[in-house]
Amino acid sequence: MLKKYSNKLVSLHWMTVPLMILSLGMGTFMLAEMPNNLEKINSLQVHMIIGFVVGLLTLIRIFVKKNHLPLEPLKVENEARKKLIKVTHFALYSLILLMVASGVTLSIMSGLGEIVFFGSSAPLPEDFSIYLPRKAHGIFAKVLFAFIGIHIVGVLLYKFKTDSSISKRMWFGK
Ligand code: HEM
Repeated sequence: MLKKYSNKLVSLHWMTVPLMILSLGMGTFMLAEMPNNLEKINSLQVHMIIGFVVGLLTLIRIFVKKNHLPLEPLKVENEARKKLIKVTHFALYSLILLMVASGVTLSIMSGLGEIVFFGSSAPLPEDFSIYLPRKAHGIFAKVLFAFIGIHIVGVLLYKFKTDSSISKRMWFGK
């Protein structure tokens, strides 16, 4: 059994982290606050491209993980904690894909894709929140924030409680 994830999986994980910070941060603190005028188009374009890349990396990661050799189990005895780890990992993958799916659906429904990528001169809709996928995108983002928090706290607690370095499992090397 392996002591750590393959370098391929580690690379995918650490490429996703900064892109997730960018897309979540940009969406929450910038896009959601900006009026829908012409100046917003560039920021939307950057957000959408980063979002696509995160989605692509996540799909590749799910595929790589499916074919990954089994890892040594974590030193967790408590059944509820074991379940929570599984649920958190599943939720993180699912929420990322739901973010991308709702973002893409919103772009199609609102004509945003045409404006941003195909040079349509139509104006942006006054407010994206008239579209259901926009509401879903916002809700998924909040749930995703919560699970990222659980994930980080879980890793830190494991490190301090078991005194073994869980972070080495998700780092480069042999
Ligand atoms: C993992 C990928 C993504 C993440 C983490 C993400 C994150 C976010 C967040 C946090 C918001 C603000 C939500 C709120 O505060 O209510 C937002 C807004 C938005 N996102 Fe994404 N997003 C992702 C992918 C995408 C994709 C792929 C598209 C389009 C193809 C997209 C299009 C939009 C649009 C149009 C808005 C609305 C901006 C507004 O209301 O003015 N997102 N995103």
